[in-house]
Amino acid sequence: MTDIALTPGTRVAVLTGAGVSAASGVPTFRGEGGLWREYRATELATPGAFARDPVLVWEFYEYRRGLVAGCSPNAAHTTLADMARALPVTLITQNVDGLHQAAGSTDVLALHGNLYGIKCSRCSYRIYDRSHPLPQLPPPCPRCGAHLRPDVVWFGEALPQTVLHNAWQAAGECDVFLVVGTSAVVQPAAQLPLVAKGGGATLLEFNLEPTSVSPWCDETILGPAHETLPAWWAAHRP
Ligand code: OAD
Repeated sequence: MTDIALTPGTRVAVLTGAGVSAASGVPTFRGEGGLWREYRATELATPGAFARDPVLVWEFYEYRRGLVAGCSPNAAHTTLADMARALPVTLITQNVDGLHQAAGSTDVLALHGNLYGIKCSRCSYRIYDRSHPLPQLPPPCPRCGAHLRPDVVWFGEALPQTVLHNAWQAAGECDVFLVVGTSAVVQPAAQLPLVAKGGGATLLEFNLEPTSVSPWCDETILGPAHETLPAWWAAHRP
């Protein structure tokens, strides 16, 4: 096991993926439960799918909102919120479920947007609204009448630039980088552990299984994150 000594000044950056929310009941993208009706989640999370069938894609996101609304943060989420009260932590997530925020994490760098955010597919209209369902599928933009769409990043779309910039900077400057519950196959998020490694950080991974980033990790801690992460934090907190 990698011997690591955390002090109150140790700069930690964390990248989380769907696996961190698995124990809360949110299905991962590439594991079991990644299907909705006969569709893979990754087939519907595209601008092309929305252009072809906006109702279908809107229904898929309504389904995901409903599913997440019934989920609570688990011990992995609360551990990361606790960690940020003890150390300078930058929490970067690919998840759109809002469970880090619900666990008390603030200033979360949400690379892929937010399930409860809504924006216009044409103009700059944007809102954050948890009060769903909406009467029409998909609802029209109150400003220009075009389709509203979820404020999430779809395949082929650019990530929010400031969020990405801040994530990149935190990865490059941290002392310890934790990769939690992500298959680390989706770019550019998958680069962040390597940016951290290149900057000299210790790289630790928490996953059920080895991933494409494992060869670069100082240690991969196998097991469910809601068990392994609290145990690691309990053993290492300053
Ligand atoms: P994936 O579904 O690709 O990967 C989930 C990872 O979590 C896998 O490596 C699992 O082994 C691991 N895992 C599952 N349960 C776990 C548990 N209880 N504890 C620890 N690890 C567990 O999800 P992401 O890597 O988040 O993007 O996917 C990245 C992006 O691809 C998503 O943000 C989404 C998707 O398409 C967009 O929609 C733009």
